[in-house]
Amino acid sequence: MVKVPAPGGRLEPADLERLRAGQALQMDHYGGGRLPFTCVQARGLVQQMVPLEGEDAGRVLEVLDASGGYASACLGAGHACLQPAFREGLERGYVTDELGSLERTLLLEELFGPGGRWADRFPGSAYHASGRNSGSEGLELALRLVLESGFDRRRLTAKAGREARRTVLAFEGAWHGWTGGLVPLLNRRHYRLGLPAPVSEAPFGLDVAFLPFGEQEPLERYFALEGSKLSAVIVEPIQGDAGILVPPPGYLRRLAGLCREHGVLLVADEVLTFAKTGQFFAMTDEEGPIPTDITVIGKSLGMGAVSTSMVIARRELSVRSSGAVSTSDLRPLTCALMRSGLRYLAEERLIERAGPLGVELRERLHRDVVEAFPELFLEVRGLGYMNGIELTERAAGGLSRLRHQLLESGVFVEFMAGAGRRSHGLRYMFPAMRIAPPLIAGEEDLRRIVERIREGTRRFVEAGR
Ligand SMILES: Cc1ncc(COP(=O)(O)O)c(C=O)c1O
Repeated sequence: MVKVPAPGGRLEPADLERLRAGQALQMDHYGGGRLPFTCVQARGLVQQMVPLEGEDAGRVLEVLDASGGYASACLGAGHACLQPAFREGLERGYVTDELGSLERTLLLEELFGPGGRWADRFPGSAYHASGRNSGSEGLELALRLVLESGFDRRRLTAKAGREARRTVLAFEGAWHGWTGGLVPLLNRRHYRLGLPAPVSEAPFGLDVAFLPFGEQEPLERYFALEGSKLSAVIVEPIQGDAGILVPPPGYLRRLAGLCREHGVLLVADEVLTFAKTGQFFAMTDEEGPIPTDITVIGKSLGMGAVSTSMVIARRELSVRSSGAVSTSDLRPLTCALMRSGLRYLAEERLIERAGPLGVELRERLHRDVVEAFPELFLEVRGLGYMNGIELTERAAGGLSRLRHQLLESGVFVEFMAGAGRRSHGLRYMFPAMRIAPPLIAGEEDLRRIVERIREGTRRFVEAGR
């Protein structure tokens, strides 16, 4: 075993070497730019990180998690409410999706059954659900449901009247996942070039159109001109990778209305927004739930303990026989973890408090970070515990150094790519720091997170002089 000393202490040189070698054994998906740190232990919001390089190599740092696990660890690390769920989940077998399981029944009943937690939005009489292993897989199933809705399974041809609907509308700057079916839904060249593009010819081809997110006028115009060619719209209610972009009030409801008027399926990608915005679902406004045909949730749904996603679709949407069978669709263990975690979030009102605490967090970030370093940061945006600070071009140029300084100052935040260049004369959008702490973070934790971001930024500025 690697012996981990108390924070401030140093690892034995041989143990540090093992961590370096371990890092090198994992494929690097960051083009050589991975942060040289290893997490050796964690509890709640606190992660013990070891730098692998530099003067402090091997020293154990205590780091506050302000965005960890790509915003999936809503309960932080090692939460007690998950311990019994692990045991029960394991004891209740491992059936596949063909057979029912007690754990799955309990979960789905609690969510979609009469009086269920989400039954106002997704009543079981009108919606059904499927589980996948990741957000990307969930979105693949959503896309598959869209395509199958235009296919006549008996005649093995395009459904009568749907032949011309071969376009999916997506948004500039969107992120839906890496897998083959999803890459065409990303408008950025860096993500697409060199990879197969979809065939667009009739009868089964697929076209993708892109609009700038949150802009009312292009949306109206597009539906008026091209609405009859659309099969579906796929939207993140708050764009994540584009830099935490919150659409103007009324935009999402109008989008849902346009989809209904034009017979177009609305797919909400809530993989990232799920449970973060002061609501379980970000497709919500002051009138209540905004209706969708398909909603995909993920990340926090696995409670930071497992990778999972769920596709909630109208009952009339399904795939051909055996078309979406998956080894791990809503396994008992996954269901037990979800059920325990969701119940805890609801009972402790952690979802609700994220709304008002998020407002305070953004105020602090604005005052203590953006206003304090106007040459580095443009603005704070967000809702609940899903927040971003857009960098200036100058800060974006020093991103790697900034990330190091923040970690060494005891806070872990992630960075989103930014939407880059957008159409319709909209301004360029630079990368954004994502501050999406686990929901267990209270007021005092948020205050400490902001302090450390400020301190890390100060050190970044100092080091650059
Ligand atoms: C909005 C959104 N959709 C889909 C995905 C893909 O999820 P996963 O990484 O679990 O495949 C992500 C991941 O960051 C995401 O942010």
